[in-house]
Amino acid sequence: MEKILVSYQEKLPSETIRPADAEKLAVVTIDGPAGAGKSTVSRILAERLRFDYVDTGAMYRVVAVRAKDSHIDPHDDGALERLCRQLDISFQRDGEEWRVFESGEDLTATIRAPEISMLASKTSARPAVRAAMTELQRRLGQKGRAVFEGRDMGTVVFPKAAAKLFLIADIQSRSERRFLELKDSSGNLTLDRVAADMKQRDHNDQTRPVAPLRPPEDALIVDSTNLTINQVVEKMLDFINKKMN
Ligand code: DC
Repeated sequence: MEKILVSYQEKLPSETIRPADAEKLAVVTIDGPAGAGKSTVSRILAERLRFDYVDTGAMYRVVAVRAKDSHIDPHDDGALERLCRQLDISFQRDGEEWRVFESGEDLTATIRAPEISMLASKTSARPAVRAAMTELQRRLGQKGRAVFEGRDMGTVVFPKAAAKLFLIADIQSRSERRFLELKDSSGNLTLDRVAADMKQRDHNDQTRPVAPLRPPEDALIVDSTNLTINQVVEKMLDFINKKMN
């Protein structure tokens, strides 16, 4: 298995990396609600641009898995902060796929369980968790040449990103997409349950006081409801090329 990019780790640096430091970096951000196709599109964009790809949702999901393992109350900021500072998260590319590890354990499948999705939505709203992840993400971003996928990449983490994208789709197509992804691994899942969970998570993500999900002012907003993946990618590449040249 080829290990490229992201092995970042251990103690967070003592000095905080400020957004201004991210200026002029060749960073592309892609934000938007769950199920709009962000991950698929981000991976293709990264490949076409020959950039690294960072799935920041996976980072928040790893926090949720480890909080659950350690029986941490999702509202206990102190315990969550200590947890985040101990995490050793890394991504490894495995063909088309990106695998995510924490302290050497492969959590790629574990982080996708519906229970973890819901827990991640709660723990990712906690200021202590957001501060720790933001810092790690900015540290990674200093290398440049990366596509960062998440909810607050263009608004908070990289306000000076070279190109910002925001991908949306209607709730029906987003839930159908997520249902198809999950139905093999989660036997008793129904489309209604996926849609209800998704609405709840949209609400959590959009109404949290810290870094709520919203489009950056200078983003290209793309609605994937009636577009193919290729059409979405081409629109975005066109925008990125204009922004970066
Ligand atoms: O994109 P995802 O569904 O894998 O994200 C998992 C959770 O983490 C989701 O509730 C939103 C949250 N998240 C976030 O708050 N900020 C990010 N940059 C990425 C994800």
